[in-house]
Amino acid sequence: MLETNKESFTLSPEGLAEIQKELKRYETKESAIIPALYVAQRENKGFITTDIIHYLSKIMDIPASRINEVFKFYTMFNQKPVGKYHVQVCTNISCALEGGRELADHICHELGVKYDEVTSDGRFSVSRVECLGSCGTAPMMQVNEKYIEKLTPESAMNILRGMK
Ligand code: FES
Repeated sequence: MLETNKESFTLSPEGLAEIQKELKRYETKESAIIPALYVAQRENKGFITTDIIHYLSKIMDIPASRINEVFKFYTMFNQKPVGKYHVQVCTNISCALEGGRELADHICHELGVKYDEVTSDGRFSVSRVECLGSCGTAPMMQVNEKYIEKLTPESAMNILRGMK
């Protein structure tokens, strides 16, 4: 079940302009769904709500069900609030062979959260994700927009503890 915004969602003028630009860039409006979801997620503190799906449907003139399908398909769009640092640990095959699943468990254990929960101070959330396309430097994690690679449980926690 998706969260709903307490107040109805609207984009900033800059965000709206970005989406309008994306709509003009492609041959079909549907090609702008992914960039639009990125803009909306960024402006809603890292996650998408049902209100946002309906808002995008209205401004893009695309059925909400179609936007929802795209949203649900891609793991980079979050269905609930995330921490200031959203830690996505790849647990797909190459990373799993190099200890990615144990790495993800270790990070959760050290931060005191379950998967997809936010730490009580709001700083971190941890998710397991599918291949992030960096298999040659496994195991790896993505923290917000940044890839951090060739990790050990110790190096991952040193990096996370150093984030302010
Ligand atoms: S399997 Fe982890 S980046 Fe590809």
